[in-house]
Amino acid sequence: MKLVITGAGGLLGSALVKRLEGHELYSFYSQHPPQSGRPVHVDLLDQGELTRRLLEIRPDAIVHAAAMTDVDRCERERDRANAVNHEATKAIARCASEMDSFLVYVSTDYVFDGRRGMYREDDGPSPVNFYGMTKLMGEQAVRELTQHHLVVRTSVIYGSTPSSGKTNFALWVLESLKEGRPVSVAADQFVSPTLNTGLAEMVIECLESRLTGTLHLAGATRLSRFEFALELCRTWSLDSSLIKPVSMNDMDWQAQRPRDSSLDVSKAANILKNRPLAIHQALSILKRQLEGSARAMAAR
Ligand SMILES: NC(=O)c1ccc[n+]([C@@H]2O[C@H](COP(=O)([O-])OP(=O)(O)OC[C@H]3O[C@@H](n4cnc5c(N)ncnc54)[C@H](OP(=O)(O)O)[C@@H]3O)[C@@H](O)[C@H]2O)c1
Repeated sequence: MKLVITGAGGLLGSALVKRLEGHELYSFYSQHPPQSGRPVHVDLLDQGELTRRLLEIRPDAIVHAAAMTDVDRCERERDRANAVNHEATKAIARCASEMDSFLVYVSTDYVFDGRRGMYREDDGPSPVNFYGMTKLMGEQAVRELTQHHLVVRTSVIYGSTPSSGKTNFALWVLESLKEGRPVSVAADQFVSPTLNTGLAEMVIECLESRLTGTLHLAGATRLSRFEFALELCRTWSLDSSLIKPVSMNDMDWQAQRPRDSSLDVSKAANILKNRPLAIHQALSILKRQLEGSARAMAAR
């Protein structure tokens, strides 16, 4: 397959491109060059360049994983968030339709208001912040403009390496605890933490079998951020007294967050061979990945 992956240096994108090396792979990035595939520098704010590059490559399929993911920044810089998350998605959807390329759009649990949790694919979205709003408009553009598409919704992605110049929740908790630094985490915010490599494997299976529609691809366990930090602590035998439960109201956030945006992944569990991972499975994989990286560093 000839493939374009956007956000190829990001947390999900980096796991995707590593696993797609056997294909003719074009890895789109803006600031952080990807580790695999042919690097293609495209700023999503430049729609002319984005469209030109896509029409030049004419991929069989596109996985659009790039986004402005800083939720508070999206709230502050609304024009930029709309341009990156919505307008660029619209441009990609138009190109996909024109080239008859299959489009996988990676969306978020933040399209839901979080009043109920364990959302299914056909539950009504109602975002509580601007990031969620722009991602929902991205979903709508993909549905309106393309025939062959899959909208994937995921939740709190984590992985073994920093990507696109930043750490992730699991690495931040582990590094803080190993250094004896306390961490304050919300005990009243519930999510479905998702290991990036497991997510990449599910996305690739969907891509290869050309699944269409909307699909929740996330970890199989609903947890509060506090419970997630405790699970990390248990798996690495670290000092759990350093984890301080706080309320979402105590966080210094600009954008509101959904209280419970956990996702029901039973549809994916029923149709995929690569099933959503329970938290214990995912954390034992993460542990092996981190031990493997430490061994590789030591051998250098
Ligand atoms: N992270 C989460 O917890 C989470 C939860 C639910 C859904 N999602 C969704 O999952 C997808 C993947 O998230 P992620 O965590 O892998 O993201 P990430 O690590 O924050 O990476 C974002 C990617 O988007 C690219 N990007 C941002 N602005 C761009 C621009 N103007 N032009 C070109 N590329 C741009 C970045 O490229 P450069 O670094 O090269 O600039 C980066 O590779 C996103 O669509 C996100 O909305 C994420």
